[in-house]
Parts: sequence; structure tokens; C-alpha cells
Amino acid sequence: MSGPGRREDKIASRKKDVIVSTGITGLDEILRGGLPSPNLYILQGPPGSGKTTAGLQFLREGVAAGQNCMYVSLSQSARELEAITRSHGWTLDGIRVEEFSASDALNAAAEQTIFQTSELRLDETRKAIEAAINEHKPARLVYDSLLEVRLITGDSPRFRRELIAFKSFLAEHNVIGLLLDTQTSGGDRNGEEIEGIAHGVIRFDKALEEYGSVRRRVEISKMRGVPVADGYHDMAIREGDGIVLFPRIVPGNASEPGQPQLIKSGVEALDEMFGGGQESGTTTLVIGQSGTGKSTMSSLYATAALNRGESVALFLFEERLETFFRRSEGLGMNLRKLHKDGQLIIHDFNPNEISPGEFGQIVQKVVSEKISGSS
Ligand SMILES: Nc1ncnc2c1ncn2[C@@H]1O[C@H](COP(=O)(O)OP(=O)(O)OP(=O)(O)O)[C@@H](O)[C@H]1O
Ligand SMILES: [Mg+2]
Repeated sequence: MSGPGRREDKIASRKKDVIVSTGITGLDEILRGGLPSPNLYILQGPPGSGKTTAGLQFLREGVAAGQNCMYVSLSQSARELEAITRSHGWTLDGIRVEEFSASDALNAAAEQTIFQTSELRLDETRKAIEAAINEHKPARLVYDSLLEVRLITGDSPRFRRELIAFKSFLAEHNVIGLLLDTQTSGGDRNGEEIEGIAHGVIRFDKALEEYGSVRRRVEISKMRGVPVADGYHDMAIREGDGIVLFPRIVPGNASEPGQPQLIKSGVEALDEMFGGGQESGTTTLVIGQSGTGKSTMSSLYATAALNRGESVALFLFEERLETFFRRSEGLGMNLRKLHKDGQLIIHDFNPNEISPGEFGQIVQKVVSEKISGSS
């Protein structure tokens, strides 16, 4: 009797898991609300991928919710942390910063032949962190970063033991911990080992394209008990907003389209060619050499729809807005007013500056809020 009863208790306690916001809207969306708490999470990424920024957002969210928050900084001095925070127009108000100089312990590791010295420093650091947690009782904690610990411990069994001990300490004290882990270019053999210890692992990635801006992406490498959308999701770091995330659009979530309608261009011969018009809910790709009239033909459909009183959205990649207006005026269409009135929605992009994920989000937002809503 006691067996199944205990299992029920476990299920009941799992149901009580509180979901806490990460402070990053798009990430919460991917995680179906946020991080199940209190647990231990690891945020991995190469240098400059935005780990510290995300850590700050996570703690600022906690402060906004009235929680005690602590930032344990080994890889950045408190001054550097302050500068990063200020660069976004934020403050560290309400966040307890515990700064530990990793260099002392590292120097000891490099200079002393007696290995125990660095191990001793590591123990001291851990004790100091535990004392700070006991004193300030944080609900959220960011540890920046594991790289310093790994440099001292070297071999993975010791590193793994450190991590397991820290995990149980945080669990006992009801702390939700976000451990930042800098991935070095030499690769890291501890990666998979530490993934096993954490409740969830989030990976930031930063890739250089042949041309254009850096491509930033996030992957939820593991999240126990949460059916997250796998694969990469595009992200950006914006001044003031910090990490901005664009969850990948998963096909199949869209509702079934209604009865298809024929969308006319207003040019009879063209509509006849397509059997009466373009069918709604479908996509048509217009290809042709430069100057063959692709834009003009597309504008016909837009103008005809506008004349019928429907909303139209245009996404421009190769033309600036002003050039587009001037060209349409040359063809006898005055789109400026309709744009001003909001019936015509135009977004012009620099293709080198926008990620596919962000573009997808904008199209989805415009279509669901402005286009579908108006018909
Ligand atoms: N105010 C800002 N506005 C826009 N982007 C910024 C701003 N501040 C920093 N960034 C971008 O964020 C990147 C670094 O973010 P962050 O310090 O969070 O990375 P990190 O992963 O913690 O790096 P490290 O491994 O060096 O600690 C910078 O390289 C820069 O490109
Ligand atoms: Mg950092």
C-alpha cells in the first residue's frame, strides 16, 4: 500500500513545481512558461554570447517579483558587471553581488607544485559562497562562471563532485540556480557530464556568417519534463532589451484555413491565366530576371486588394520605403496615404541585419494581428 501512495506523493509534489520567468519573453515561450523551480540550470555559450546579460535579466525578473537575488561573480569584477548592466540602462538595485577573485586560486594552481593550495582556495571560495547564501537567503542565484572552477579542478571527477555538492546545497536552501558556463574553443570534455547533473541546459551560440552581422542563436539542449521546441531559435542582444529571442515557428500549429477565395489582380487576362485568381491560403513565388516586372506584378495584387478595402502587408528587402513609393507613383498608384492610414503595412529590412527567426516572427505578428483580424 505504501509504495503506490509514495508515488502519488511524488506526483503531487511535482505538480507543485513553481514555474518562474527567465526574464526573457521569448525564452519563457519556448520553455512553456519558464523554468520549473527550484532546480539547477546551466547556461552554456562561447565568450561574448550573452550569458552574463541573460543572467542579469534572470535576476532582475526576480527582483521585480520581490525575491532576494544573488550574483556570484568569478569571471567578471563587480565593476565590469556594473558596466555591462549600465550599458543596457539597467541597475543592479536589489541584486546582491558577491565578487570572488578567481585569479588568486588560479595563480596558486599555476605556481605551486603542491596541488592542495589551489584546492584549498576552491574550498574557501565554496565556503564563502555558502555563507553568503545562508546570510542573504536568495531565491535566485547566478554563478558566473563554471570555467574558473574547471580551470582549478582540472580533471572531471573532482569538477563533477564540486557540482553535485553545490547542487544539493542549492536544493536544500530552495534556491533556483543558473550556472553560466563559458565554452572555450578547444572544446570541453566535461560538457556531457555536467549536462547530466543539471535539470536543464540552455546553449547560446554565436556564428559568423560570410557577410553581415553575427548570427546569435539559442538551443534548449535539455529540459526535464518540458516538451520544448527543439533546434535553434534566433536571438539578438539589443541595448535596453538585453537578450531578445525569436522562437522558431513550428509548422502545424496554424488553424485550418477556411473556404479558399480567389484573389484577383485586377488585370483580367492575368487572372484568367491562374484560373480566376490566386487561391487564398497559398503561396506563389514570382521569379524572373532583373527588370521583368516582378515587383510591378506583385504591386497589382496589392493595389487591387487595397481598392477592395482589404489590408495589405508588404515586406521589402531590396528597396527603401521612399524608392518604393516613388516607383508606385510612377505607375499611377498612390500608396502613401494608405500606408499612413494603416491599411497598407510596410516593413523594409536590410537582409544582412535580420535573422530568419525575427523575420518569421514579424510576418506572423502582422498577419495574425492586422491582416486576418481585419477581414
Ligand atoms: N548595451 C548593449 N547593447 C547591445 N549589445 C550589447 C550591449 N552590451 C553588450 N552587448 C553585446 O553582448 C555581448 C556580450 O554579452 P555578455 O557579456 O552577456 O556575454 P558573455 O557570454 O557573458 O561573455 P563572457 O564569456 O566574455 O563573459 C557583447 O559582446 C556585445 O556584442
Ligand atoms: Mg560574462
